[in-house]
Amino acid sequence: MKRNTVSHLEHISSFLAMDVFAKAQKLEKAGRDIIHLEFGEPDFPTQFMFSDAGIQAIRESQTRYTHTQGTESFRHAVVDKYLRKFSVKLAPSQILTSCGCSPLIFLAISLLVPPQHEIIITDICYPCYDNLAMLAGANPVRVKICIEDGFQLNINKVKKAITSKTRAVLINSPMNPTGTVMPYNSMKELAALGIPIISDEIYSDLVYEGEAYSMLNFTDNCIVLNGLSKYYAMTGWRLGYMIMNPAWVSVAAKIHQNLMISAAHFVQKAGETAILKGEAECKKMAVEFNKRRKFILNRLKECGLDPGYNPAGAFYVFLKYPDQSKKSLNLSMDILEKTGVAMTPGIDFGPGGEGFIRISYANSLKNIDEAIKRLKKYFS
Ligand SMILES: Cc1ncc(COP(=O)(O)O)c(C=O)c1O
Repeated sequence: MKRNTVSHLEHISSFLAMDVFAKAQKLEKAGRDIIHLEFGEPDFPTQFMFSDAGIQAIRESQTRYTHTQGTESFRHAVVDKYLRKFSVKLAPSQILTSCGCSPLIFLAISLLVPPQHEIIITDICYPCYDNLAMLAGANPVRVKICIEDGFQLNINKVKKAITSKTRAVLINSPMNPTGTVMPYNSMKELAALGIPIISDEIYSDLVYEGEAYSMLNFTDNCIVLNGLSKYYAMTGWRLGYMIMNPAWVSVAAKIHQNLMISAAHFVQKAGETAILKGEAECKKMAVEFNKRRKFILNRLKECGLDPGYNPAGAFYVFLKYPDQSKKSLNLSMDILEKTGVAMTPGIDFGPGGEGFIRISYANSLKNIDEAIKRLKKYFS
């Protein structure tokens, strides 16, 4: 029987972090001591209080589909959070809950950008922005952000990238892979362009310097994406949400019904507990991340590996490595093999990431310390 070709999807790339992880696992199996700094995943376990709420919900048979936008009570928890944190007043009807933030990136792009139209993303950025835009039939247009600008988005460059086909701009602050936080004025200027903004705010609770803002503080011509994977340490629960202008809700809900039907009911219960009752515990994790951030930045500087910009949020440092003749993928694999430190090659985040490696400091101080010692030896 003739098999269909799947070559139309060949341009969609895999996460190189996964390739590094696969190699790290092989080395671990062979008895090597590996320090994992390649994943953007908190090393803390989910708080028992959140898990217990989920388990209790399972016992109460909250194991069915829910409204496609999520349960009323979960959406009320999100409303409560955005009022508490950003002083933004929302209606539960503006919120759509899903299985993590990831499918919502695709949904938000599909919603705002018709096929053959353009979405402005950054070079560098979270790898799946580019892939999901292409899957949605949109053309991603990359605006370069560079270390010389402190990895901050230059709004003039965004203006220059706008064409008659531009339908949205996708930003992420604090940012993966740099950990940079977009300043108030840039967010304001971006909103003033009048183009719908998709704002990925999944790290917005992990801002260690200055104030955190939501795009909703500047415009309602936006879709905000957020989720419980990072701050609430709930990656495996798969829970995220988007907040949108009421004009887009009915179509978004229709698409989501087709894609997902709904997020799991008991997962939403656990998430609701996390948002409403978990703040104190999650703040402790954020304090610990900040300790690690300061530690790793000091240690890198002591070793002559100053990143040269300010990663003020999330849990990443994007490091320009000394020998720029080396490709970041080869270098990451070589470092892994020789030192046992797993990190993500910068090229994973776009062409502008070549020459860099991403270090995730979602690991213990002890392991970070050991990793830096090994890196120092490798680079000297
Ligand atoms: C910027 C960004 N957005 C979205 C996601 C995906 O989050 P989720 O686990 O909610 O699908 C990640 C995960 O690393 C991320 O870094």
